[in-house]
Amino acid sequence: MTKYSAIPPIESAIAADRQSAKRHYGVHPYFTRRPHNVVREYVMHYSREGDRVLDPFGGSGITAIEAFLENRVGIQNDINPLANFIAGGIAKLQRGGLADYESALGELRAACQGRLDALAGSSVDEIEALKRKLNMPNNIRLPKSSDVELYHELFSPRQIVALAILRTAIEAIAAPHARNAMLLAWSATLAKLNRTFLSAEGRAESRGGSSIFSIYRYKTAKDPIELPPWKTFEERAHNVLLAKQEIDKAIELKNRTTGWRGRFESHSRDIDDLSDEFEGTADYIFTDAPYGGHISYLDLSVLWNCWLEKMPTARARERELIVGGDLGLNESAYTDRLGKSIVACLKMLKPDRWLSVVFQHWNTAYFDAILTSAAETGADLRAAVPQVGDTVWSMHKKKGNESVLAGELILTFFKTGKPRTINVSPHRFDVESAMSHILSSVRTPVLYGEHVFNQLIVTAWKEGAIKSLQISKDDFNGLIKRHGWQYEDENHRWVKGQPEGLLFA
Ligand SMILES: C[S@@+](CC[C@H](N)C(=O)[O-])C[C@H]1O[C@@H](n2cnc3c(N)ncnc32)[C@H](O)[C@@H]1O
Repeated sequence: MTKYSAIPPIESAIAADRQSAKRHYGVHPYFTRRPHNVVREYVMHYSREGDRVLDPFGGSGITAIEAFLENRVGIQNDINPLANFIAGGIAKLQRGGLADYESALGELRAACQGRLDALAGSSVDEIEALKRKLNMPNNIRLPKSSDVELYHELFSPRQIVALAILRTAIEAIAAPHARNAMLLAWSATLAKLNRTFLSAEGRAESRGGSSIFSIYRYKTAKDPIELPPWKTFEERAHNVLLAKQEIDKAIELKNRTTGWRGRFESHSRDIDDLSDEFEGTADYIFTDAPYGGHISYLDLSVLWNCWLEKMPTARARERELIVGGDLGLNESAYTDRLGKSIVACLKMLKPDRWLSVVFQHWNTAYFDAILTSAAETGADLRAAVPQVGDTVWSMHKKKGNESVLAGELILTFFKTGKPRTINVSPHRFDVESAMSHILSSVRTPVLYGEHVFNQLIVTAWKEGAIKSLQISKDDFNGLIKRHGWQYEDENHRWVKGQPEGLLFA
């Protein structure tokens, strides 16, 4: 037994705490962000100080940032330039002194606040004249699913001018780390100062959100909400300063105790390319692969990548692991590549190490691809933990739709290096009896559909029958109802109700 093989797997859900870490929450929005405390516990549990902890689908960098703050080498990788901009931007907040950051914000206030506030009273002609003078982003074509055709149409004239004034002033900041921090705050401001920003009903205007994160496309508001640009930026900048203070404090605490030796690396490769370079080098991988066709990351990140001048290459767009998007990437290629991405992870992992993969989808073929690829490449599934009840509900889910899955399953594998051939059961998986078994073992008065579905997946997998697990969303929900559960729209969960007499007769 090695020190890694002796680690007992995490078997139960960890309550998510999404908002307490200032280094992640409120600095910059990104898609499907994982709760930092869950990621951190996994990293702490499955790796040791000095280890190389990799997230090949790193997104906003939670895995690598938590790892590097805990004396590991945190390795961020993502094909999306925006993801690396955010992750690297946060990691770099450890550099430079807080006083520099504060004085950079002071410089910006002196240079921009008056000009931005005055825009509210400027005439159309004055705004147009400013637009001609300022450095504007390229006016590229947007993804086909967008409400508007060209990039500039994402902004009202005041918004684009305000953002350009700020951007120019940020470039003039001399201290490089403070400049990076202000650029991060500016990029976060972009999410609010554009026409996809929709206000939330019954809440302060500024509490709304962009359609990019709720319905995953560029839907523009007919009457855009024009948030005050300086105030909006300043709030973002304050959040960045808070994140810096928190990071500085964490590092200082480490320095006072064990000493801080954390490192952060960032890469922008397709996962398959990365695996050639990183073969056998990772001590732990925690990752969250894209879930099929829900989110086209590169299309949705054009808002940032265009103005940051970090547009992805044509190859990156072709290699994005999604279904659909502007390039119409196909489903079977996705399933095949999803399996290969697990092979890539195991290739990068050292022997006798752990791999955790977060996933959620109705399509059982995706789970089959993940689980079969892992087994055939020499990794055992040691834990499957449903993290439900603590998710950020997407707009689809919020509409009270029990057919949308919102939780996630964390699958943890141990790399044994002994490939296994999966014997497919000759019997068809008996969904009804498996559901009956799962539902009759529930001891709580509430139930999450995601939890039941995830258990179904794991049961079918253990019986070698995942390939024959087929159930429609309606049949799945129907079975839960037949066992006496009723769906509660407002809480997105099932509660124990009266059994439907006839069906139980
Ligand atoms: C589910 S998100 C990860 C979010 C992350 N867990 C977080 O907390 O921010 C999946 C990520 O995979 C990236 N991605 C998609 N295809 C990729 C590929 N072929 N290689 C590397 N990254 C890819 C996307 O850009 C996206 O950021």
